[in-house]
Amino acid sequence: MRHWGARILCFRFYRQRETSARETHGTPGEQHLNLQGKIALVTGAARGIGRGIAEVLAEQGADVAVNDICVNDGAESVAQHIRQQGRRAMTVQADVANRAQVEGMFEKAWNEFGPIDILVNNAGIETITPFLKLTDQEWTRVTDVDLRGPWLCSQVFCRWVLAAGRKGNIVNIGSIQAAKILPGRTHYAPAKLGIEALTRNMSAEMTPSGIRVNCVHPGFIATDMTAWIMNDPEILPAIVSQISVGRPGQPRDIGTVVAFLASDDSGYVTGQSLHVDGGWIYK
Ligand code: NAI
Repeated sequence: MRHWGARILCFRFYRQRETSARETHGTPGEQHLNLQGKIALVTGAARGIGRGIAEVLAEQGADVAVNDICVNDGAESVAQHIRQQGRRAMTVQADVANRAQVEGMFEKAWNEFGPIDILVNNAGIETITPFLKLTDQEWTRVTDVDLRGPWLCSQVFCRWVLAAGRKGNIVNIGSIQAAKILPGRTHYAPAKLGIEALTRNMSAEMTPSGIRVNCVHPGFIATDMTAWIMNDPEILPAIVSQISVGRPGQPRDIGTVVAFLASDDSGYVTGQSLHVDGGWIYK
């Protein structure tokens, strides 16, 4: 009798586990992370990885403020996609490396949209210039946008969140180049490796106040930034052959991981930098 009782209990347990696994993972594009009622601001979201992140966050229930240095048709079409998910969207122009513009961006988004819960520091630029030819100007602009920008946006965001007595979540977008040497990136790579230290240090200072901070390092993702590789019949296969998953990543491959880190499902994860690269650095 006890034997059968245990079997029935086991059966119920496994059925419950199967059902909750289906509920948790769902099918691609289905809502399975609870971002309902959250408001996110994604920088550099008019195209590429930022667009993928903004779309996935909206599909998972968040309203999204779409930032870019240039608010054009791209930004408007991202906002349109978000509204089609039944979520609110707004576009907000700002250069992430300009304090006055960043302060104006948060003021506008916060006042028009409500308290922002999630900041994704995605905006970034890359140039490829040999070390000996790099100018002060190029070094300064790349590190300003790629490292000081996330620091600046995070500082302004955290001040708003703490002043409102709320909790928050920051996800920084770094790069595989935090760990992998590619030629002509003596400015870009240090900025992206710096994002890892920024993530750790901000996490240590902000998590006790309720703001978790994590970082995603994308590998090779098909966007305008990498179009020159995608269109090169020699370089493309050479790079793909180094990727264990066997294909370039898509912006949504980054978006789904960002959505997880931005959700309460990752509530015990902070200060971490996660490579989302199809296994490129480890092959
Ligand atoms: P992308 O060039 O396609 O898009 C970047 C977006 O950021 C553009 O819409 C651009 O207008 C905007 N932006 C540039 N400077 C800005 C500024 N100062 N303020 C506000 N917006 C600004 O680039 P992609 O590929 O989507 O890259 C997004 C992030 O991912 C960047 O931080 C990049 O460094 C990083 N990344 C990209 C990889 C890839 O393979 N595509 C690999 C590793 C990291």
